[in-house]
Amino acid sequence: MPKHIAIVPAAGSGARFGAEVPKQYLQIDGKPLIYYALSALCACPAISCVWVVLSPEDAHWTSFDWGCLGDKLRVAYVGGETRADSVLGGLTAAATEAAGDDWVLVHDAARPCLPAALLQRLIDELAGDAVGGILALPVADTLKRADAEGRIRATEPRDGLWQAQTPQMFRFALLREALTQASGVTDEAGAVEAMGLRPRLVRGDSTNLKVTFPADLALAGKILAEVTK
Ligand code: C5P
Repeated sequence: MPKHIAIVPAAGSGARFGAEVPKQYLQIDGKPLIYYALSALCACPAISCVWVVLSPEDAHWTSFDWGCLGDKLRVAYVGGETRADSVLGGLTAAATEAAGDDWVLVHDAARPCLPAALLQRLIDELAGDAVGGILALPVADTLKRADAEGRIRATEPRDGLWQAQTPQMFRFALLREALTQASGVTDEAGAVEAMGLRPRLVRGDSTNLKVTFPADLALAGKILAEVTK
């Protein structure tokens, strides 16, 4: 039976958030944002180990005690220039305990509200899939394309458009090959698509939001408080 390995790229600077510390270390209820993503993955019985990919210059990780997450957690200071470089670094670090057909679930450090049932649904729905796939949500809003003056140049048809979430789940060897070849991709599925493959879309949930701007942090805090009530 193939194993399930999680990789959490956490080497970004979070420039869009505009805080002093990288956004994965901003706190909700006394714990860094990344704790919640790691906790959801470590708690999943199907996942055998969880690799965190940090920047080689990371100065925050060791300020926290991660012991409560148990012995699935692994840390690699191999983050790169882009998310794809960081994930590739994580795959290389994990290679010693992974086989080519093991599944890899890549999950953003800044997505703290991943429900356990949704994670399990992704794993179950992709179990027999030849390519793999991602959590995603159909686009609900009308989409506008802006011009250089911040005015609307066009309305884009939203039919068939989905917003990619994470985890994104692919076989270890396929993902490694895809990320080695791809350039300019912003998620793992993009690299797999560039190989001519069509990853599956598994319906996600709006609570599985990515913290990008300050208002997202407050919303994530409310969602987590609701879950733990
Ligand atoms: O910037 P964005 O929100 O798209 O980042 C998504 C995830 O990728 C975050 O968890 C971030 O820390 C990670 N990342 C990384 N290495 C980079 C850039 C982003 O690990 N060079």
